[in-house]
Amino acid sequence: MKYLSFRTALVALLACGLIAACASPAFADDAAATYKAKCAMCHGPDGKGTAVGTKMGARDFASPEVKAETDAQLTDIITKGKGKMPSYSGKLKDAEIKDLVTHIRGLAK
Ligand code: HEC
Repeated sequence: MKYLSFRTALVALLACGLIAACASPAFADDAAATYKAKCAMCHGPDGKGTAVGTKMGARDFASPEVKAETDAQLTDIITKGKGKMPSYSGKLKDAEIKDLVTHIRGLAK
């Protein structure tokens, strides 16, 4: 019985380690997954903004204002942050941010 519970704990520990590794930016090459994990709580799964996000000033990614911004401008805002939008410099790689911009443009369609 004791042996079993130890093994269960070990399996759980390993699973947690795996999940943590997968959730870390180095492994999250899927922009949709990154967006869901790090951005959707403010910008919403569809990019329209959650109640919390819009209250902070997040705009619908499909709005004419955001559509008028260049990819470079969006990249800049994600990298450096703006207002209540957190900076992701050092947290996400440049390539990941680039993929996120593409993902956002997809949401805005
Ligand atoms: C804590 C809430 C929050 C989180 C988390 C967040 N954002 Fe934002 N985001 C904002 C707010 C608020 C703004 C508006 C900033 C402003 O214009 O003052 C914004 C603006 C933006 C803009 C510029 C669009 C515009 O209105 O011009 C982009 C692009 C963006 N966010 C992408 C992202 C991405 C990608 C992530 C995840 C990696 C993310 N955001 C995470 C709150 C958030």
